[in-house]
Amino acid sequence: MKYSSKIYVVLIISAFQLHLTTAPPPQKKVPETFDFVIVGGGTAGCALARRLSDSGEHSVLVLEAGILPHLDLDVPALVPNFLSNDKYVRTYSIPQEDGRIMEYKVGRTLGGGSSVSAMIFNRGHPNDYNTWAEITGDRSWRYENLLKYFKRTENYDGIYPSNQHGRDGPITVTSSKYVPLLDEWLGAGQFLGYPVADPNGPQTISFCPVEYAKRLGRHVSSYTGYLKPVLGLRPNLKVVLEAEARKIIFRRNQAVGVQFRSNTDGIPSDNVVYARKEVILSAGAIETPALLMKSGIGPKHVLEAARIRPIKYLNVGQNLQDHIATPLDIVINNRSLAFIEENNLNPQTWKDYNETGDGPYASYGGIGGQAFISTTSQGNQTNIPNIQLFHLGSPKIAGLFEEKLEIHKAEWEVNTMIFAELTNPSSRGSVTLNVTHVNSSPLIDFQYFTNPADLEIMIDGNLKHEIFTKIYKFKVGFIFESLIY
Ligand SMILES: *[C@@H]1O[C@H](CO)[C@@H](O)[C@H](O)[C@H]1NC(C)=O
Ligand SMILES: *[C@@H]1O[C@H](CO)[C@@H](O)[C@H](O)[C@H]1NC(C)=O
Ligand SMILES: *[C@@H]1O[C@H](CO)[C@@H](O)[C@H](O)[C@H]1NC(C)=O
Ligand SMILES: *[C@@H]1O[C@H](CO)[C@@H](O)[C@H](O)[C@H]1NC(C)=O
Repeated sequence: MKYSSKIYVVLIISAFQLHLTTAPPPQKKVPETFDFVIVGGGTAGCALARRLSDSGEHSVLVLEAGILPHLDLDVPALVPNFLSNDKYVRTYSIPQEDGRIMEYKVGRTLGGGSSVSAMIFNRGHPNDYNTWAEITGDRSWRYENLLKYFKRTENYDGIYPSNQHGRDGPITVTSSKYVPLLDEWLGAGQFLGYPVADPNGPQTISFCPVEYAKRLGRHVSSYTGYLKPVLGLRPNLKVVLEAEARKIIFRRNQAVGVQFRSNTDGIPSDNVVYARKEVILSAGAIETPALLMKSGIGPKHVLEAARIRPIKYLNVGQNLQDHIATPLDIVINNRSLAFIEENNLNPQTWKDYNETGDGPYASYGGIGGQAFISTTSQGNQTNIPNIQLFHLGSPKIAGLFEEKLEIHKAEWEVNTMIFAELTNPSSRGSVTLNVTHVNSSPLIDFQYFTNPADLEIMIDGNLKHEIFTKIYKFKVGFIFESLIY
């Protein structure tokens, strides 16, 4: 055993303590030690686990709260069936001021959000990374310096091959043949004067087809791309499922381990694991700050109210951002052009999917067209998109949106959806602990639209959409109505 010496040291320490105090009962489990302990086997955690264990020189442990992804999650059209299944997706309820409850869903399985996503593969805009470089004063965050890592991620098999793309990475990036209404979408964009461009090479003001993290029609998640091919084959990589991190253990100001609750055959137990080099938190935008606060790193008032021994007072959980989207409906006068689950998912298309890896089963709710546009509200920065549009060539996504039956339409017509999404929201929210029950759901408040600039841009975006659908109708001929909410 390569690391037995350190485990031995831990044993000696606990034996020494036992000898001195005699009070604590002997520990049944010897605490284990790894070089790296990764909390959260999600999109980032799976990539980190693979890369950190590649050399074979370091031992790596992944603690994942969820279980293995269900095999059906490989089939894009079946993914939405899991969005309300709390074995794979965690749903947070977020009460809003007007009394509505907003649901916020995150993946809770190996691969995290990337295992239950719509497979949309988009880099950020270069400006996003260049802003990070400015804030940190570290040029390595600039887009041109990150490009080699983006390329390293990709096994690019899309329609825009260029020096912007990599071919040897674990994540296959591709396009679909079956994309309902994509040609009409791109054609309308071109009619309006927008170029059609590679969404990833680098992102510009344009209309684009969606590129997918998908291989032979099957969902490629961070789990299936990075972790699955090596899982069980590397003695230096261990994954514990159904392991909920409860606290980071500090020795003075250094993180040295993690306390977690695990679940073996339905029996919960509390465990400790130690990290020789680093404890890495990749538990997502909600659970990572919650774990820091539970461990004593957080705002003073939160730690005091929750009676948590402070390690350091920091504004953890502040500055929470989410790119809110508004759905817009358009009615199309030929139902057969859209993705209709009841019609398009059938034994014949299942057989086709099995043989070709394409067709309706390779589609997630008909998502296929997107656009990066800039409204006037951002004034000068016209080359930087502030609205992203997604076209969903279907009237619903099971588990997320029902078909809006109240929309007036004839039986040969169908309503599809466009989502207008803020790319750079200015509103800032927070995530904090439930101070009376620190291990229950963290309290989330996105503060959507509290900065008036966001609302202004969204309204502008929707107006653009209205102009757009009128032209879409004129150009393509089968749109006859646009409904804005
Ligand atoms: C609807 O679209 C289908 C498939 O492209 C086509 O065969 C059919 O003629 C269209 N119907 C109408 C009324 O345009
Ligand atoms: C899918 O393909 C496999 C072999 O590649 C075959 O065994 C199976 O029967 C096929 N299923 C369907 C529904 O066609
Ligand atoms: C836009 O231009 C005006 C006038 O040149 C300037 O005052 C303002 O700061 C600029 N805004 C941005 C966001 O660059
Ligand atoms: C905190 O958690 C308890 C137990 O789950 C719950 O009853 C209470 O409503 C929560 N507090 C808030 C502010 O949500």
